[in-house]
Amino acid sequence: MDYSKLRDLLLCPLDDSDLVRRVKLLSENFTTRREKIGEYTLDKKQVSAYTAFYLPTNIPKINFLLNQLPSEVRENIKKCSLIDYGTGPGTYALGFCDYFEQLPDIHLIDQSSLMLDQAKKLFSEFFPNQKIHAGSSLSDTGRESLLFFGNSLNEIPLNELWDILEKVRPKYFAFIEPGTREFFSKALDIRRGMGQRGYASHFPCPSLNYSCPLEKKKDDDWCHQIIHVTHDQEIERISQMAKLDRRTLPFIAHLYELEGQCEKPSNSGRLIRIIKETKFSYIWELCLQDENLKNIKVELLKKTIDKKKIKKLSVGIEVSFRILKTLENNTYRVEILNLDNL
Ligand SMILES: C[S@@+](CC[C@H](N)C(=O)[O-])C[C@H]1O[C@@H](n2cnc3c(N)ncnc32)[C@H](O)[C@@H]1O
Repeated sequence: MDYSKLRDLLLCPLDDSDLVRRVKLLSENFTTRREKIGEYTLDKKQVSAYTAFYLPTNIPKINFLLNQLPSEVRENIKKCSLIDYGTGPGTYALGFCDYFEQLPDIHLIDQSSLMLDQAKKLFSEFFPNQKIHAGSSLSDTGRESLLFFGNSLNEIPLNELWDILEKVRPKYFAFIEPGTREFFSKALDIRRGMGQRGYASHFPCPSLNYSCPLEKKKDDDWCHQIIHVTHDQEIERISQMAKLDRRTLPFIAHLYELEGQCEKPSNSGRLIRIIKETKFSYIWELCLQDENLKNIKVELLKKTIDKKKIKKLSVGIEVSFRILKTLENNTYRVEILNLDNL
């Protein structure tokens, strides 16, 4: 997406210093002053600032999530209606279009009419042939759908989510939300509720039949993903001026399928944490299924891998491995088998 074109399409033009000031306000609003969380959506300039900064820096997260799915799931999603609930300026709906080129139709749902105005403006320029419906509530999609939430579920109570799911009964359900400990607690409730409603998990859990190994942990250990990205130079400049890092992006993404079959190979696990780097090795934590779900520590010897590549790897990728040696403390020395495809 051409960034200078995006800046030209804002509801209100903003010069760089105004944009930086407003982005700082937004960031404060999302982290510390959460009682006023919805206010920015009522102000044209704040909606424009959100669009100029968070839209292009959030989109890489959807590419990551889609890339982690089996190819047949991606093919099925391409044939679904997309319901982007809490779409804001159309962030992830635009991301989906960018990824798939076109979807059968897209429902942009938001309680803010300004956000919807901004989303429609962007779609008419970037994807003029994409069929879209924009509104504050759901209408019948008339086909199998993917119900998606991006940074909006943290603002929506769980009972509202269950009502929406009941009404839509989507084939796929997914979200990309803040990578915080606080949202992880909500993600666990959602995970449990999805299992009870007949869904299976494609990402990140290997199975919903067992409890999450991190469920009972009270310390700083929770399941989230981290990607490392670079942006258009203009965005990098705005990030630096606002002192906000948008190159390392933590988030919590999940994707479920109604009555889905989610086979997981036995010699693989999801990278959920990079624990440490020692002089000779990296220690990672993987989540995998054998009799139940469990987390194991694996040691990779530095001499066997390309260090530059390892540093850029995302947390959340699926890792195939072969155990070379059993070490102490539930740790295994391993060889990574799919390093070239990561
Ligand atoms: C932080 S923005 C996220 C926008 C976009 N999805 C993204 O990730 O960049 C949250 C959006 O959710 C919308 N929202 C919050 N609660 C909502 C609800 N109950 N119904 C519809 N939209 C809602 C807000 O108006 C806002 O536009």
